[in-house]
Amino acid sequence: MAKSPLILLFSTLLLLSSPLPTLSSDPDPLQDFCIADLQSPISITGFPCKPTSNVTSNDFFFDGLAKEGDTNSPFGSSVLQGNVLAFPALNTLGLSMNRVDIAPGGLNPPHSHPRATETGVVIQGKLLVGLISTSNVFYAKNLTAGEMFVIPRGLVHFQKNIGEEKALIFTAFNSHLPGAVIVSLNLFGSRPSVPTDVLTKAFQVDQSVVDQIKSKFG
Ligand SMILES: *[C@@H]1O[C@H](CO)[C@@H](O)[C@H](O)[C@H]1NC(C)=O
Ligand SMILES: *[C@@H]1O[C@H](CO)[C@@H](O)[C@H](O)[C@H]1NC(C)=O
Repeated sequence: MAKSPLILLFSTLLLLSSPLPTLSSDPDPLQDFCIADLQSPISITGFPCKPTSNVTSNDFFFDGLAKEGDTNSPFGSSVLQGNVLAFPALNTLGLSMNRVDIAPGGLNPPHSHPRATETGVVIQGKLLVGLISTSNVFYAKNLTAGEMFVIPRGLVHFQKNIGEEKALIFTAFNSHLPGAVIVSLNLFGSRPSVPTDVLTKAFQVDQSVVDQIKSKFG
């Protein structure tokens, strides 16, 4: 059924008069900065600020991403987090960064960030970067140094080193604490653990398969 001219007029006016959800921006800071006082309990909008009289130059700099992470793990990868917990000056500013090191053949396993869209740039190596939409469509590309990717908020994604040398990526997030749900750990390594019959049903497999996977993450 065609829309009446009146309805079209109203929808056009509505679009023009209200901010489009697709054009939303970072939250507006209420002060120059708010260096987190990590001793205070976290609140819904972040940490309280430490007194300005206690703020020094060092608060605005962080060297936690300077050194290569230890990729000697089952996944062959390491994620160093530069979020508000590590770098308190990010508090309330709506952004953070990670350093991802991946050994040859290693994987930053499928995971999602519930509170942030991610963008990243490959510094070194050759990687397969993939993401899966809520319609279960898989999007992927092989990237090399200087190339960039974006992972829309909440979507499951991974990076796999498909080259001969080690790979290095720096990623950025539009949250000071993006959070990470690592799918395999989340379902098979939680404490207390998710009931096995939930997982056998969800994955349509036998208990032995679930037990085997659980044993890797327990
Ligand atoms: C601020 O500095 C004073 C003096 O060094 C110290 O006693 C106090 O614990 C500091 N407060 C915070 C929240 O860092
Ligand atoms: C990435 O490169 C590998 C070979 O190294 C190739 O098999 C694969 O199809 C490529 N993937 C994409 C998404 O281009």
